[in-house]
Amino acid sequence: MAETIVDQLNRPMRDLRISVIDKCNFRCTYCMPKEIFGDDYTFMSQDQLLSFDEIIKLVEVFARFGVEKIRLTGGEPLMRKDLHLLIERLHNIKGIKDIAVTTNAIFLVKQAKKLKEAGLDRVNISLDAIEDEVFQQTNGRGIKTSPVLKGIEAAREAGLKIKVNMVVKKGMNENQILPMAEYFKGTGDTLRFIEFMDVGNHNGWKMNEVISKKDIVNIIDTSMPIEPADPSYFGEVASKYHYKDGSGEIGIISSVTDAFCSSCTRVRLSADGQLFTCLFASDGYDLRALLRSGPSVEELVSAVKEIWTGRRDQYSVDRAKGNPLPKKKIEMSYIGG
Ligand code: GTP
Ligand code: 5AD
Ligand code: SF4
Ligand code: SF4
Repeated sequence: MAETIVDQLNRPMRDLRISVIDKCNFRCTYCMPKEIFGDDYTFMSQDQLLSFDEIIKLVEVFARFGVEKIRLTGGEPLMRKDLHLLIERLHNIKGIKDIAVTTNAIFLVKQAKKLKEAGLDRVNISLDAIEDEVFQQTNGRGIKTSPVLKGIEAAREAGLKIKVNMVVKKGMNENQILPMAEYFKGTGDTLRFIEFMDVGNHNGWKMNEVISKKDIVNIIDTSMPIEPADPSYFGEVASKYHYKDGSGEIGIISSVTDAFCSSCTRVRLSADGQLFTCLFASDGYDLRALLRSGPSVEELVSAVKEIWTGRRDQYSVDRAKGNPLPKKKIEMSYIGG
């Protein structure tokens, strides 16, 4: 039986998001702008990355405290060599019930079947536009939509559950809200619209570039009527809406205009083993150093317990209330979203 621990705001720990690599083959303007992440940018070296053995050792500790859900992120997680071998081992850890990957889908054509066979349950696929011209701009690499759509198809054929993530930013892709909804309506995949967030230090975030949850709901409802639906599980990040004609659901992730910190059960591990208790944290806890000092399992257990029970972050609530915010934030591609 897992031991439930709660933080200072009475939140249990349930989900662990693990970044397995900081590199990505895309340069999305809101995440890894190519002016910053250029050819001379230094990514982590192999020995900086946590090994699969190290990741497994930590997940076994987190599972003791009730973590049931593992999400693998990046950068682009499918660029981590032999990711299926990690998934196979995660799948065998007692208490782990759900394993998902957040990916740009390019490598799914090659890997979907292997990942599913290893124990992967689902994929969340980033796609910000259905029109090539818009998508080529947002991904910063001129990549058309067809390789992503083929990746989605491969995931479907492999039997993976699919959600599609669309970051919405004014002036970038708001004209794609309806075309994307039309494209995915009736496919069985859940399309989620994400408010542009002030993550990292380089994406030039401005409040007036955020298209709010309210606006997105209105845009869709006017042409394809929707109604609010219950969350699928406690602490779900997206608010759900059903199409009134029964042809499926959409989600909205509204970290800016409707914060969901009060039910935040997530903890994040960077690819080099720093543990963060908030997407917007400025500092992590160096679990890699602890791991590499040869600790006993009990030492790891008490470190994790101390970190979680001391946690009190609620960045999005603080932002909404106008409370002071940390000056320096961690980059999205480092922490994995
Ligand atoms: P599901 O398990 O499928 O619900 O996944 P998810 O939505 O939690 O994960 P995903 O990686 O698909 O993230 C979708 C968006 O939600 C991304 O923009 C994430 O950065 C954002 N997100 C996920 N968790 C949090 C969180 O705790 N706080 C904030 N502010 N945003 C989050
Ligand atoms: N705001 C909102 N979502 C973002 N993502 C990356 N950067 C941002 C941002 N600034 C999304 C990606 C992916 C997920 C991990 O986070 O598009 O779907
Ligand atoms: Fe890569 Fe995803 Fe960031 Fe785009 S949002 S640059 S696909 S990690
Ligand atoms: Fe959790 Fe921080 Fe996101 Fe709030 S802003 S939901 S505390 S990760």
